Amino acid sequence: MLVTLKKILQKAHKEGYAVGAFNINNMEICQAIVRAAVAQKAPVILQTSEGAIKYAGIEYLKAIAEAASNEKIPIALHLDHGRDIETVKACIKAGWTGIMYDGSHLPFEENVKNTKKVVQWAHKKGIGVEGELGTIGGAEESIVSRKIIYTNPEAAREFVRRTGVDALAVAIGTSHGAYKFEGAGRLDIHLLKTLKEQLKIPLVLHGASGVPASLVTMAARYGAQLGKPEGVPDDQIAIAVKNGINKINTDTDIRLAFDAAIRKFIAEKPEDFDPRHILSPARELIQQVVEHRMKLFGSDGKA
Ligand code: G3H
Ligand code: 13P
Ligand code: ZN
Repeated sequence: MLVTLKKILQKAHKEGYAVGAFNINNMEICQAIVRAAVAQKAPVILQTSEGAIKYAGIEYLKAIAEAASNEKIPIALHLDHGRDIETVKACIKAGWTGIMYDGSHLPFEENVKNTKKVVQWAHKKGIGVEGELGTIGGAEESIVSRKIIYTNPEAAREFVRRTGVDALAVAIGTSHGAYKFEGAGRLDIHLLKTLKEQLKIPLVLHGASGVPASLVTMAARYGAQLGKPEGVPDDQIAIAVKNGINKINTDTDIRLAFDAAIRKFIAEKPEDFDPRHILSPARELIQQVVEHRMKLFGSDGKA
């Protein structure tokens, strides 16, 4: 069933686990995530980036998520890194149940002003809003690269008080994409503890993909050229959940699983060009990856 971001995160906040937020771009990815959530009896957030909306179209993504919401588990439909105000408004109008407004690239006052406006529009419809303060590193479709600027706890307190956001994305050392660290991947757990103490709302970890070696090896074996990718180790994710993260974003691991499974199928069955045969192993592998992460986040059995 489709529920609000606020509702799904409030329970996680109260009970001390994290809900997985997974990026969808097409039907198969959405099905894999929802099948994993059903298998693990886990609440789940399906999120669409502006790039996904541009690629698939808002109506298609809405229809896919609506079909998914026939399942009995709680599902939120969330805009990921909304920066364009027209897209934010379109998602609110179309029935998204959560909105991230990402003003992290703006000066503090402008971020406050824009986020507050989005909160006012969204709250009128009962939709929760995630804000971002500090900058998470790495690459997204619209951003080539940026340095991590760790979230300042005092600024965060003021940001939350003045904007009324329901959840906050914090920068504690992660980056988007497959190249997060050089050397041991560690998060600033001390900073997370301080933020948790000072903020009484759910905290969100972006750039949280684990970049599992098994997926990298599989993709590379069938021709992917990935260099030396590095993700957030599972033990760091577990510590982050223990110390107050309630929403964890994953996209890169889904992309890696999709890529590895398709490459393998095509290499092993060069005579088969049926898209259903090509995409089925990708859907199955993504489901396995998502189920593993749900258990890691402690959201299994919480639906
Ligand atoms: O935060 C970034 C997500 O991985 C979405 O990436 O903008 O390329 O769809 P995208
Ligand atoms: P990853 O690139 O680590 O999967 O992060 C995705 C994300 O934060 C989407 O908002
Ligand atoms: Zn993100």
